[in-house]
Amino acid sequence: MQRTLKRRAVFSLAAVAALVAGCGGGGDSPTSGDGNDSLPKLADFPFASECKDCHPDHYNEWSGSRHAHSFTDPVFFHFNKTSIEDDGQVNQTFCLQCHSPVGVVTGEVSGVVDPETVPERTRDGVGCEACHFMIDPGLDNEGTFGYLLEPGITQYGNLGEPVRNTFHLSEYRSFFEESSQCRNCHNFVSPNGPFEVTWTEWVGSFSAMRRECQECHMPAYQGEAAVGTGVTRTLHRHEFVGADLAYTADFPNRDRQRAAIDSLMKTAATLEIVSVEESAEGESLFVSLRVKCLTGHNLPSGVSFNRDVWIRIAALSGSDTIYASGLFDEDGNLDTPGGGTRDPDLKKFYALAANRTELGEITYDNTLKPLEEREIGYRFPMAGASGTVDLNVELLFRALSPAFLEGAGLSYLATDEFIPVFTIDADSTSIVLSGGG
Ligand code: HEC
Ligand code: HEC
Ligand code: HEC
Ligand code: HEC
Ligand code: HEC
Repeated sequence: MQRTLKRRAVFSLAAVAALVAGCGGGGDSPTSGDGNDSLPKLADFPFASECKDCHPDHYNEWSGSRHAHSFTDPVFFHFNKTSIEDDGQVNQTFCLQCHSPVGVVTGEVSGVVDPETVPERTRDGVGCEACHFMIDPGLDNEGTFGYLLEPGITQYGNLGEPVRNTFHLSEYRSFFEESSQCRNCHNFVSPNGPFEVTWTEWVGSFSAMRRECQECHMPAYQGEAAVGTGVTRTLHRHEFVGADLAYTADFPNRDRQRAAIDSLMKTAATLEIVSVEESAEGESLFVSLRVKCLTGHNLPSGVSFNRDVWIRIAALSGSDTIYASGLFDEDGNLDTPGGGTRDPDLKKFYALAANRTELGEITYDNTLKPLEEREIGYRFPMAGASGTVDLNVELLFRALSPAFLEGAGLSYLATDEFIPVFTIDADSTSIVLSGGG
């Protein structure tokens, strides 16, 4: 039952990316000028479910991933709409090009789209074909440039001598084992400079860490690449664990994905209490902490504007809290770092952007860089405490805040099911106060 080759157009997102780089001038279709007949058709892209019988584990893992959710996520659809309607984004396929590569290369989705009415074949988002029809990952120049997709009967991958099968041909491409496979979707440089540049950040870490994206995000295991081949190989997990859970309740593997994010987060950084000093007069304590980033890119990375990554510290005298920072308010939000007054000491790692459209510009960035060690100090009054003071510190991660979701009209997602707080690391100590002098 060999699938017949309908079309073998080498197709590129490069033209879309060129529009991004050129501030949205020109048409809004990736092949402006070519005419629609030369576009690949939706039918040229198999559903991920067609791979399930022979690759059940790959299918199952991918099904619970953010790649599988990229074009069913209500948060995405909301911001695609507002960026066009409210923020004046000119390029109608700007957001869609990475979140629905198949929709864009076929010319089937553009502009403001509704999750209920997008073509069925685009709902796989970053499906198997967005990666395994890739014949060239594009240029190595730290910008957002196109990759080449070749819809056809050949699946490209990392296996050297694949066993033949009746569904597709197979061909080896070395870049599947390298970060360059991920590069052009995970590196967005706007005309105003680096914007969401996980790959560029990773380049800086590689000489010291020597770890490809796949080593952390597609861990290796042993098994059959397809059922019944009888060949044991080194395979790679397709859960693509990162920071976000799916933002729909019925999404597959929610519990498994949550546990996997929890484990990944525990590898992201360390936090330790370096010293606790009492002031000479015994009136205040100075606590010094050290954070070390062990992530292969900045922490947070990508959409670092939306993330809550922060330190929670509490000093207790018996059961009385004499000092705390990094606590939520009654709505579950942190104070505004820098500008807030409720929690002036709040230590949060984040970036700010002037504009979240294709012309975006980072205006502030204190995210942790790979292998960076940062000393962080707190000084607070003892508030009459005596005896022993217990100190607890935590480095925490939350994908989105209730305030962010409220702003998007998606407050119903502001629950532990969708935006749990993950502990990256924690430390504690006790100090016996001398009372000064
Ligand atoms: C065709 C484009 C594309 C390619 C290629 C691609 N990604 Fe992604 N990736 C995306 C998009 C878009 C998202 C965001 C989906 C969402 O959250 O809605 C994403 C999300 C992720 C996430 C989850 C982030 C989170 O917030 O939880 C991880 C981890 C990830 N990708 C890793 C990789 C790795 C590793 C590779 C290379 C092996 C890769 N990606 C290749 C487009 C791509
Ligand atoms: C009829 C069974 C069957 C179906 C259906 C099937 N595959 Fe495969 N696939 C195989 C076999 C067999 C191999 C080779 C495994 C090996 O050598 O260990 C393979 C290998 C691969 C490889 C590795 C290619 C390489 O050279 O590195 C990729 C990627 C792949 N398949 C993707 C897919 C995708 C995507 C789909 C769905 C569109 C799919 N397959 C559907 C049987 C199948
Ligand atoms: C040394 C391990 C390591 C390597 C290498 C690595 N990552 Fe990550 N990645 C992590 C950890 C840990 C997290 C969770 C902490 C965070 O969000 O930064 C993460 C988070 C992410 C996220 C979600 C980021 C966020 O904060 O929203 C994306 C997307 C991602 N990685 C993609 C990539 C890509 C693409 C590459 C290669 C260019 C890569 N990663 C290389 C460990 C790694
Ligand atoms: C975001 C990109 C991406 C997506 C989406 C994706 N893959 Fe892969 N896949 C890869 C990469 C990269 C490798 C090789 C990893 C390595 O060698 O480090 C791979 C390897 C494979 C292999 C070879 C065996 C192995 O585990 O190494 C098979 C089979 C496969 N993928 C099938 C699928 C199927 C089926 C789907 C959809 C259900 C899918 N992939 C979705 C990137 C992707
Ligand atoms: C260059 C490719 C690219 C473009 C263009 C792009 N995205 Fe993404 N998007 C990604 C990747 C990769 C991630 C995962 C990064 C991460 O999790 O930090 C992501 C993550 C997201 C998420 C999920 C993370 C979250 O906030 O919880 C949303 C929502 C999103 N993008 C919306 C948009 C919107 C709206 C636009 C257009 C204004 C857009 N994206 C343009 C690649 C892209």
